[in-house]
Amino acid sequence: MSTADMEMWLDRRVAKLGEQCWKKMKGEMPSLYNPKYWQAHLMDWIMEDESFKVDAFRFVEVLPALSSSKQMATHVRDYLLKEGRNLPVSVRSALNMAVGGITAPLASIAIRRNITEMARRFITESDPKKASRSLEKLHSEGLTFTADILGEACISDSEADEYLTKYKDLIELLSITTKTWDDKPSLFQGPGGELPRANVSVKISALDPHINPIDHEHSVARLQERLLPLLLHAKKHNVFINFDLEQWAFHDITFDLFEAIASHQELIDWPHLGLVVQAYLKVSKDRLERLIQFGKKRGTPFTVRLVKGAYWDFEVVHARQNGYTCPVFTSKAMTDACYEELSKTLLENHTLISPAFASHNLRSVLYAIALGEKMKLPQNSIELQMLYGMAEPQRKILSDLGYRVRIYSPIGELLPGMAYLVRRLLENTSNAGFLRQSYHEGIEIQSLLSRPVAGDEMDFSPRMIAEDLHSPFENVALVNFTSKQVRDDFQKALATTRETFPHNIPCVIGGKEYFSEETSTHLNPNDAKSVVATLSIANNDQAAQALAISTAGYPAWRDTPLETRGLLLENLATLLEEKRYELAALQCYEGAKPWAEADADVAEAID
Ligand code: FAD
Ligand code: 2OP
Repeated sequence: MSTADMEMWLDRRVAKLGEQCWKKMKGEMPSLYNPKYWQAHLMDWIMEDESFKVDAFRFVEVLPALSSSKQMATHVRDYLLKEGRNLPVSVRSALNMAVGGITAPLASIAIRRNITEMARRFITESDPKKASRSLEKLHSEGLTFTADILGEACISDSEADEYLTKYKDLIELLSITTKTWDDKPSLFQGPGGELPRANVSVKISALDPHINPIDHEHSVARLQERLLPLLLHAKKHNVFINFDLEQWAFHDITFDLFEAIASHQELIDWPHLGLVVQAYLKVSKDRLERLIQFGKKRGTPFTVRLVKGAYWDFEVVHARQNGYTCPVFTSKAMTDACYEELSKTLLENHTLISPAFASHNLRSVLYAIALGEKMKLPQNSIELQMLYGMAEPQRKILSDLGYRVRIYSPIGELLPGMAYLVRRLLENTSNAGFLRQSYHEGIEIQSLLSRPVAGDEMDFSPRMIAEDLHSPFENVALVNFTSKQVRDDFQKALATTRETFPHNIPCVIGGKEYFSEETSTHLNPNDAKSVVATLSIANNDQAAQALAISTAGYPAWRDTPLETRGLLLENLATLLEEKRYELAALQCYEGAKPWAEADADVAEAID
């Protein structure tokens, strides 16, 4: 069959399967969109008004940190009840009750309770013991799970240690409790034999506060030291561990860490660990290829969870803010098309990598299923994954079709769960999202099941970014040390700069250089033996001469047209930009600046 014929066959198969599933689901809705629940109405207001949406999510994020009804009142007023905002009368009156008067304390409690209730749609329980009962309920419905302890971006070693301990305890708890559950071959049998009943997902940013892409090698080494014992513990208790992927800055660290751990002598033959590939990344095909090569070298399969990616809004804003190249596609259809291409690559390599398709988009999931059918793969070689509290009708239908459906089930408190909750709210309210389009906008299912057609990418030119701020001025972008190439180039600049020491710096007066006998020595604050520069010291006469020359030169400079002076400054900025790495390297030696701060200083000079 030609590629074109094959694609047409797949389109027809997806459309047929999709219609059947949709018919079976008729009338059923994910709880977040179900008008039976008040949260659906809140979601309606949020989706009506983009500015309310942004403020509501900012409010949700800050909520766990508000400790009094007075703080709550200030935040409700400043974030939600903005002047000129057109809110439904019922919402405005409810919010007004929290702002002052005798109703404030009760209204404040009610707001907190409602948002906590909303969070609980996506989070199983705060406590692992109770959560294990929720997981058992999933099992009784014919679903399986991966449990995640909510937490990310930890800021201290003690916090990271606490997470590690919680994960160790969770592994033990789940390995014991799941043993008592009934045997369900569709859930526990993979193509290579029995699968662990317990499955846990971890995020590296919860497990070490010092991860920094600038210090890639040490970040990987530190994480390896912390995570290896956890993985060995999981192996001992027969528990699967998946490494989640977070923002792009941590991507390469997570990949290197995964490969280092999966190659460890005690884990190299252990198939029950996995990693994520994010289809929204422009480099995702390359990254999946890298994992396939790694799989060949390792010889024992591992799992790849294919996702689109949960940090899209962050990546776009972060890249625009810093003038970085955007790492993600900005056309939704490009992400969808890439997901399908990666699905095909994954299934073609299913003996090296066990594929898990994580999506709530019926087209994306059914495309993988149809491919599996065409390749005549057994159903249990395809795993489907969904998030707790999302797309409930779909997960049931797909599990009824005989597929292993794994539900990503977060456990934890509201505070460490806020970022997770906001990502879910963003996802559910995104104009481009499948769930919103199908359940909220009511777009025809046939059109949602059709092949993604790539649209236009967003404009990322510096001019667009400057126009956002209504200013013709463009800040020079900071160097993005997430890139290995950039880090290598900067290392080279550090090495070559070091060879030029010590610099012998003269006084410059009227364009002439003067070297004095009396000098001042400038040492590297990080290395007292290293002289960075020897500086000539002007005497009183030379200082007076310098002042006189400057004063005499002033009228001509003052009378030089603004454009000419501006041009000179721009030329200087260009020269600084050309020597940007060398100047930043000098800052590192001269002022003991960390790389990013040294670069920021040079960038400020260029600006
Ligand atoms: P769709 O509605 O089809 O796709 C929405 C997605 O498309 C967005 O999330 C975004 O990735 C992308 N998108 C939206 N707008 C645009 C645009 N304008 N241009 C380009 N792309 C766009 N994600 C991670 O990053 N790391 C993880 O470890 C992770 N684990 C997951 C585990 C499970 C079990 C599941 C189900 C998902 C996981 N995700 C993870 C993915 C993420 O959380 C979202 O659920 C997922 O991206 C939503 O995609 P979808 O196919 O369900 O829905
Ligand atoms: C997230 O935390 C599910 O890992 C994904 O958003």
